[in-house]
Amino acid sequence: MSEPIVVPLLRLRNVAKSFGDKVALSHVDLDVEAGEVHVICGENGAGKSTLMNILAGILQPDAGEMLLDGKSVRFSDPIEAGRVGIGMVHQHFKLVSSMSVAENLFLNRQPLRFGFISDRRVMRERAQTLIARYRFDLDPDASIAQLSVGQRQRVEILKALAFDARILILDEPTAVLTPPEVSELLGVIADLKARGRTILFITHKLKEVKAASDRVTVLRHGASVSTRPTAGLSESDIAHDMVGRDLATPRRRAGGIGSGAPKLSLSGLTMTNASGRRLLDEINLDIRAGEIVGVAGVDGNGQTELSEAVAGLQNARAGAVAIDGKDATNVSPHERRARGLGFIPEDRLDRGLCAGMTIAENVSTDNYAARKLTSCGLIRMAARDAFASEKIRQFDIRGARPGLPVGQLSGGNMQKVVIAREMEKAPNVLVVAQPTRGLDVGAAEFVHGQILAAADRGCAVLLISSELSEIFALSDRIAVMYRGAVLRVLDRTDATEHLVGLLMNGVDEAA
Ligand SMILES: Nc1ncnc2c1ncn2[C@@H]1O[C@H](COP(=O)(O)OP(=O)(O)O)[C@@H](O)[C@H]1O
Ligand SMILES: [Mg+2]
Repeated sequence: MSEPIVVPLLRLRNVAKSFGDKVALSHVDLDVEAGEVHVICGENGAGKSTLMNILAGILQPDAGEMLLDGKSVRFSDPIEAGRVGIGMVHQHFKLVSSMSVAENLFLNRQPLRFGFISDRRVMRERAQTLIARYRFDLDPDASIAQLSVGQRQRVEILKALAFDARILILDEPTAVLTPPEVSELLGVIADLKARGRTILFITHKLKEVKAASDRVTVLRHGASVSTRPTAGLSESDIAHDMVGRDLATPRRRAGGIGSGAPKLSLSGLTMTNASGRRLLDEINLDIRAGEIVGVAGVDGNGQTELSEAVAGLQNARAGAVAIDGKDATNVSPHERRARGLGFIPEDRLDRGLCAGMTIAENVSTDNYAARKLTSCGLIRMAARDAFASEKIRQFDIRGARPGLPVGQLSGGNMQKVVIAREMEKAPNVLVVAQPTRGLDVGAAEFVHGQILAAADRGCAVLLISSELSEIFALSDRIAVMYRGAVLRVLDRTDATEHLVGLLMNGVDEAA
């Protein structure tokens, strides 16, 4: 007798897809076994979302074959994919924020099968049953607008499960979550797997891949390059396949760190909200030339306020900010920039860039005078475009041309535009918040290199990040924030992840 032939639940062969002359997928093979958690990894632009959209019936492939249970399938829309049990949670949620959880769960249900949709009581009961079945902590009557990002994501997952998805696709579900929310999501994934669902999980956070998955497929430039069991894979194996080469680990700088008078000096810096609660609580911190001080903390403990108080976007209630030894407490953001402050904000679309304006316009802001991009008050368009092209080359901003609206770039490439603009001024003091959030490993490596290079040139860097690994890789000293206060400032050589983790939760054993 021959061995029984085991057919994978889902098999893709030679799948290709282009948008006009842009090849998004050139050649993808993928086997997904029933009941596994299969991670798809790849840099931004590798084609992950395109591939998943094909599986979910949102896009149709130009070539290749898809087999479900060994039978060839083609989906002309998401409803057809839903009918055979494929559901997808998108990178950008598709919830109606003015409606309730229950209303969103049953939105777009086919009226033929669900003629009761106008019956609010039944709808609510169904929602309650669904929420209870998966033990999610959700109130069916809450409006989406009231929910945290993690809760919204759970509504999206339930929406997919409500269609009885046996294959659930999650497109970068962790990119928008805080570390505790990520752990909860991984718990949900494990639970779904235990119930026999098959999960396709996109991420480029390598740590998560390790913990949550059975196998990993890496896509690079639109092609599948490897599929391997997760057990035994190292993070650097995956990173190597993603970028096609080994990555540099951030180089630790030796000697000469933090010399001379402070470039940035915060004394007693305090900020309150409208109801008088202290968002920043008497922060004292000096950063010298060439020094990187990392601020660690759970998101929401004052880090955003700290970065904005230094940048001048929010006013301090008490205390002082000095740049290069000169008081800047009541100085406008513009004037602070003129004094050599660079700012890379955490929210690159809201604070860092003007999404509707072009790359050339964005990268030139603040650099018009220094780069002689104007003459007699008029913008020299050709000079500005040449400047933008130079930056696009130098910072390897992919998919860019000077006239492209910056909002059309991927997150990593937008971040490169912000950094190109800020670094052009060779700042004395640089405030960087969450510099690699949402970036893939290749772009993150580049950003880290830029931060280290700035410090090497003598810039004082205030680095705010909720990624401890980033804080440890780059910082000379580590300040831990908790409830608006800096609990302690540690030399990196004295800091351990354990100690910093305790401080992040407000536990100071030495105090
Ligand atoms: N609708 C579209 N039109 C044109 N190009 C697209 C479209 N969707 C994706 N692309 C391009 O296809 C490539 C793959 O994109 P995507 O699948 O979103 O990558 P990933 O999810 O891995 O970041 C990128 O270069 C992207 O710019
Ligand atoms: Mg994507």
